[in-house]
Amino acid sequence: MSRNFLKLERGQRRWLHASFTVLFLTGVVWWALHRWGEVETEFGPAPHPLNPWLMRVHGAAAMVALVVLGTLLPGHVRKAWRAGRNRLTGVGMLASCGGLSLSGYALYYAGAESARVWASGIHLVGGLVFPLVLIVHIWSGRRSRTR
Ligand code: HEM
Ligand code: HEM
Repeated sequence: MSRNFLKLERGQRRWLHASFTVLFLTGVVWWALHRWGEVETEFGPAPHPLNPWLMRVHGAAAMVALVVLGTLLPGHVRKAWRAGRNRLTGVGMLASCGGLSLSGYALYYAGAESARVWASGIHLVGGLVFPLVLIVHIWSGRRSRTR
């Protein structure tokens, strides 16, 4: 079997990078505008008008990302797991995607204010470190090829 049999298909890789880039940018810009971008209105300070749009795009990208992640499970994840390659950072990937999805779900549906605050904090921190987890995963996955 080729050493590269765990590489993603071109379409999968493109959709994965595209959806997570959109998620990351819309999430970070939303957060920056939430913190520093309030606007003055005649009724007092109000959220920046771009923010509802950023969340609409973010939510749509989250749905696409979940489809792409689903396509990785039967191929990439299962084969890599069986081959015993890159399991540690692979588990990190699954955990961070799972954590982001669960906290994203909680942001929609958590009723209690304290639960929302927790979900918001976990989601933001998870989202900010996600690119790092992905880069380490790709780097260590490629290194594991030659062993
Ligand atoms: C959320 C789940 C995961 C995502 C989004 C993901 C994503 C990726 C990406 C983008 C690459 C670079 C490969 C390329 O560009 O063609 C990669 C490589 C790799 N991943 Fe994952 N991965 C996930 C889970 C896992 C798990 C659970 C394992 C191990 C059990 C794993 C093992 C590997 C290995 C061995 C490579 C290197 C493949 C090669 O030889 O190029 N991945 N992964
Ligand atoms: C990749 C990096 C990501 C970053 C930086 C990020 C950031 C954010 C931020 C700042 C918010 C607003 C939080 C709040 O209301 O307090 C948010 C909301 C949300 N995120 Fe993410 N996120 C990321 C990935 C994801 C992923 C992977 C999913 C799900 C698969 C997801 C699903 C959601 C959902 C459902 C919401 C609530 C949308 C709404 O309130 O309309 N996010 N995200």
